[in-house]
This record gives sequence, structure tokens and C-alpha cells, in this order.
Amino acid sequence: MRIDKLLANMGYGSRKEVKKLLKAGGLKVNGEVIKDGKEQVNPEADTVALYGEEVHYREFIYLMMNKPQGLISATEDNHDETVIDILEMEDQVLNPFPVGRLDKDTEGLLLITNDGQLSHQLLSPKRHVPKTYFAVIEGEVTEVDVEAFKQGVTLDDGYKTKPGQLTIVKQGITSDIELTITEGKFHQVKRMFEAVGKKVMYLKRISMGPLALDESLELGEYRELTEEEVTMLREYRP
Ligand code: URA
Repeated sequence: MRIDKLLANMGYGSRKEVKKLLKAGGLKVNGEVIKDGKEQVNPEADTVALYGEEVHYREFIYLMMNKPQGLISATEDNHDETVIDILEMEDQVLNPFPVGRLDKDTEGLLLITNDGQLSHQLLSPKRHVPKTYFAVIEGEVTEVDVEAFKQGVTLDDGYKTKPGQLTIVKQGITSDIELTITEGKFHQVKRMFEAVGKKVMYLKRISMGPLALDESLELGEYRELTEEEVTMLREYRP
């Protein structure tokens, strides 16, 4: 690829800015100063260095975030901070976006990538990728609810959900549950509980397809996926 394109893609400025940078003579490819932006480089094989610092080219970025409450799952927002705003600059330059949405007050597993194809695979309604949530519910969740979710419940807009697998973790005045669903309707978990007369007080996503939340991540922390995790996601067929 052209060297000016590579540098622009990696976040070193617009094509115009990159041109200036090259003209200044700070770029070396395999040890040789390159001033012409049209010069072709092979990002896999050539060593590209800017003012002595090696530029590692890569196309895709895959991040797992433990999303805290208060952030919007979007790339931009006029009022609130987004999950992208809290990424390091070097991660932001690759233009990643969240794969699907978690509500502002929902915590937990959020995949952030710039791989559109993988995102599409995971979100496509045709694929029925399971997502598992942990929730604290106001009220006593019972076997009646487990059965109702197994059959699918009717939401406030008349939509009947696909079966959800509900597990009661702790039963009481408030209940802890895990729920696995294979769709992603707006506020789906909250609305499923509303359909059986109960309220979600706390919601956290703990897995998406084969990917589980890394519990060593504090709220607001993120890490890159391992190669194994990326391969697992790419090859995943529910
Ligand atoms: N269901 C919800 O109600 N909210 C979320 O953030 C995710 C699933």
C-alpha cells in the first residue's frame, strides 16, 4: 500500500499532514529515508519508522471492555461520554465502534472493534447469537417466570420474544438471576421482566456467544482480545 495511506490509516494525520511529515524527512522504510507519499510499502514485510520509532501497522482492533454505568454505547454523543471516549488515543485512531449496545445504566461485556464483518456476524438477527446477563430483580423470581421465559413473553409493544433461559441464582425480596437471550430488542431484558411484573434493578452482561467477560477487568477497563478469542469469535456458529 502507499506509505501516505498507511500513515494516515494509523492516525498520523490527514494525507496532507502526512505529506508534510514525509517532506520533513522523518520517515524511514527499511532504514532508507522516504519523502514521496506514493512510495509503496508492504506493511507485513517492511520496517517503517517515524523519527526512529517503529510504526506497527495493523488493520483491525478487537477490545473487550467491562463497561461501567454512565457511558453511552456509541461512537459519539452530544451530551454524554461514550465508551469510545475513554479509550487510549492509540486505540481510538483505528476508528473502533461498539458491537451492539448496552444501556447507559448497564455494565459488563462490550466488544469494541473496527471489524465490520465480525460485528455483522455477531449482531445479525438471523444468527441468534446468545447473550447472557446477570441481573438483580426487585421481587421474587420464581419457577413460574422461568417457565414463562422458556415460552417467550409478550413485550409492551406486543412483540413475543424468543425463548429465554432463566436461571435463579438467589431468590428473595430481591432475586439474583442469569438470563440468556438470542435477540437484541431495545431494552430487552428490562422489558422481559416488566412483562412478568418485575423490575430490573441492576444489569450486567457476562457473555456474548463464546466470549465471556474477563472478570479481572475493573469497570471502565479494557483489554485487547487474544488471538484465540478473535479466532473463536470468527469461527463461531451458534
Ligand atoms: N437488555 C436491556 O434491557 N438492557 C441492556 O443494556 C441490554 C439488554
